[in-house]
Amino acid sequence: MPNARNLRQRSRRCAAAEASVKPYQEGAPGACLDAMAGFISEVRSSANGLIIRAAIIAAIGGLLFGYDTGVISGALLFIKKDLHADATAQEWIVSVLLLGAIVGALISGYLADKISRKWTKVISGCVYFIAAIGCALSFSVPMLIGFRFLLGVSVGTASFVSPLYISEVAPPRVRGGLVSFNQLAITSGILIAYLVNFAFQGLPGNWRWMLGIAALPGAALAIGMLTVPHTPRWLAQVGREDDARKVLEKLREGDEKADVDGELKEIREANEREAGSKVRDLFGPKVRPLILIGLGLAVAQQFVGVNTVIYYAPTILSDTGLSASSSIGQTVFVGVTNVVFTIVAVLLLDRVGRRALLLIGTIGLTVSLAVLGIYFAVPTLQHTAGWLALICLIVYIAAFAIGLGPVFWLMISEIFPSGLRSKAMSVSTMTNWAANFVVAGSFLTLNMLITRQGTFFVYTAIGVASFLFFMFRVPETKGRSLEQIQTELVGENSGK
Ligand code: BGC
Repeated sequence: MPNARNLRQRSRRCAAAEASVKPYQEGAPGACLDAMAGFISEVRSSANGLIIRAAIIAAIGGLLFGYDTGVISGALLFIKKDLHADATAQEWIVSVLLLGAIVGALISGYLADKISRKWTKVISGCVYFIAAIGCALSFSVPMLIGFRFLLGVSVGTASFVSPLYISEVAPPRVRGGLVSFNQLAITSGILIAYLVNFAFQGLPGNWRWMLGIAALPGAALAIGMLTVPHTPRWLAQVGREDDARKVLEKLREGDEKADVDGELKEIREANEREAGSKVRDLFGPKVRPLILIGLGLAVAQQFVGVNTVIYYAPTILSDTGLSASSSIGQTVFVGVTNVVFTIVAVLLLDRVGRRALLLIGTIGLTVSLAVLGIYFAVPTLQHTAGWLALICLIVYIAAFAIGLGPVFWLMISEIFPSGLRSKAMSVSTMTNWAANFVVAGSFLTLNMLITRQGTFFVYTAIGVASFLFFMFRVPETKGRSLEQIQTELVGENSGK
């Protein structure tokens, strides 16, 4: 059984093998910029137009996810007046999406294996299109709640089939960056939503436009996915070896370092080891430690309170004494920081590695949570240093964006054996949405019970615990093929 020490040893072997082929030198001046430039030149030499197009189209799933996370708080201000929604109805309108996402993540684990990653994403785009129009045309609270649930099913599906699809078409050397296009799309979706909220507030029927406009990327996802291939790994898994070869040859066209025969052999061997895997194998002795990593990352990603910052940033800022409109303006600044630092992560993940960014990011966000707690605990600070809260929120979101944000979605697309990958990702994603639901629903209550500073200190403690968990359990995966990772982490003979 791969216990913590084995995982660490294996991850060190991964890192050592990697160090021998990477020119990146830690600590050298300008190393970060070199690493970013290195990633771009690696993409140029290994990822052709088809891969980039496939990654961008698949990442539209992330855009839908992010847009919805960001849009609802703005739209709600108008919905409550128009549809006469009381506090309970408003809570349902917001949180039913998270429940839908839990259901979506559950069923799409099955669909992604059964009907393919590609068709699951086409269906997710169609459902999103219908649900977005349904939300925009809703004339009553129950109707809106129903369509928000459907929207959630689509968002939950897209949230993990996007990284799954990209990880299975990307060349190993740039997989981290390409899979994290999805996180970049999530953060861009949140930012676009903030801007749409701002731009549409004066329009008649504003909330209907805010919710309805999302039908466009939904349609783009469904139509776009029809133009890209199935993943070679899924094709091989269902016995379509010839098609898998054809697709892989197209995906690796122009990459001088590619070894299509070698990759196919690895995929075949991994599939043979994994043939007939069942859901119960997820909890078998070999895969259990990996499931624990997936679930640990899923819970940590939400329990450090990221969505309280996304949902409640204007409230947190207005409590520092800012006017409502400056709070909303400064929230846009938080959204921009999220996008910018996700771009930094995309450029660094394949050079610096997942672990280093995860650990540095977790330290940054934990420190900013602690300072935020102190800020709310010390009244003089609130009178004299109102800017401190904004700085903390910015540092927090930047640290989340270079670490835990992208690394959770990336790692769960990499660490699981192929026969169990979609099921294990589906369980991890469901857990992430469930944790999101718990945090979103408890923030205001926690504030009342243990004060605002108490709440931030609880998140700080979770940040410390998460850091220790990552330090001792999370392996490095950069630069390895999915099959090599599988062999390193699960062993040669079986994935069960
Ligand atoms: C998380 C979301 C969060 C977003 C913020 C994602 O990785 O899963 O819950 O809203 O990052 O950027």
